[in-house]
Amino acid sequence: MSHSDVVLELNDLHTHFFTDAGEIPAVDGVSINVHKGEVVGIVGESGCGKSVTSLSIMHLVPRPPGRIVNGEINFKGENLAHATEARMKKIRGNEISMIFQEPMTSLDPLFTIGNQMGEAIRLHQKMSKKEARRKSIDMLKLVEIPRPEAIIDEYPHQLSGGMRQRVMIAMSMSCDPELLIADEPTTALDVTIQAQILDLMRSLNKEKDTAILLITHDLGVVAEICDRVTVMYSGQVVEEGTMREILKDPKHPYSKGLIRSLPKIHEREQKLYSIPGTVPKPKMERIGCHFAPRCEFAFDRCFGESPKLYSLGNNRVSRCFLYDEKGGKEGAEAENAESTIRS
Ligand SMILES: Nc1ncnc2c1ncn2[C@@H]1O[C@H](COP(=O)(O)OP(=O)(O)OP(=O)(O)O)[C@@H](O)[C@H]1O
Ligand code: SF4
Ligand SMILES: [Mg+2]
Repeated sequence: MSHSDVVLELNDLHTHFFTDAGEIPAVDGVSINVHKGEVVGIVGESGCGKSVTSLSIMHLVPRPPGRIVNGEINFKGENLAHATEARMKKIRGNEISMIFQEPMTSLDPLFTIGNQMGEAIRLHQKMSKKEARRKSIDMLKLVEIPRPEAIIDEYPHQLSGGMRQRVMIAMSMSCDPELLIADEPTTALDVTIQAQILDLMRSLNKEKDTAILLITHDLGVVAEICDRVTVMYSGQVVEEGTMREILKDPKHPYSKGLIRSLPKIHEREQKLYSIPGTVPKPKMERIGCHFAPRCEFAFDRCFGESPKLYSLGNNRVSRCFLYDEKGGKEGAEAENAESTIRS
């Protein structure tokens, strides 16, 4: 992949919340690349900063109390970290689209599907109402909605959850975005519908070369659709690799725990493994590895020093001292090695 293929590059992104209880570094130095045509997953338990990362890209973090305090959000070479609201309005729903877990909250119950789709399309593209309606019907066909000519005049509550999510995908794809951010897009749906929606996203990604940043806590979803995976823990990236590498051979103790807690179809384990303890609330000036209190491999160093990302070669990185001992390359050097491999 060439460097010019990079659609999105988060570089040391920090997004903090300034609350009465103190400053919370919800996103604490996150770097992630997404290339054209690539599906990159962000995984991790609840509260690790997945949504705040994606909302930061769109400038949708509630402010106050939230704010991007440092880092870059490079989108096709433009740093959006300091973009004006006027600029973001042009980008949102046009060059970058976002879909959320519950489509009902994104669809207005008072307007028909056609009204909402038409308006979204006409916001960014010069078209008559009639043309926008035709385009909406085409988009509904593309996401395999049956009877699109009838559905277009229905209201959101007349559709099933799976149908509403298809409508949301149709809307988000109608302006041919270069990047689609999907935050738990299938979590509210039952398993069969979930698989259909993921298939649909995959085929749109293939057909239009749209880059997708997919946020999920579900490794099953990752296995279904992602090319590469970033594992987050407590506001930081702890591991990165291809989907196959991460699922088959996780390196970071936290990723190992996540994979072990996946239900295995062939093994009749009596009790499902779960990582002991819970994700700590991010705090400023934390000392040591954030995962240390829950880590079965923790040793003295882990409690007194913060591990850097170690490069394990082949674009894999792991934030764990075990890889210092195994000869992983540390810090900036590792990050340079990474970008050399990537570019
Ligand atoms: N409005 C807010 N005010 C204060 N802190 C917040 C706010 N929203 C998020 N946070 C903090 O940011 C952290 C990360 O939240 P985020 O929503 O990104 O988690 P997540 O990984 O998306 O979790 P989930 O899987 O539950 O959606 C939370 O643990 C919380 O401490
Ligand atoms: S640095 Fe130490 S505590 Fe952290 S994940 Fe590695 S072994 Fe566990
Ligand atoms: Mg979330």
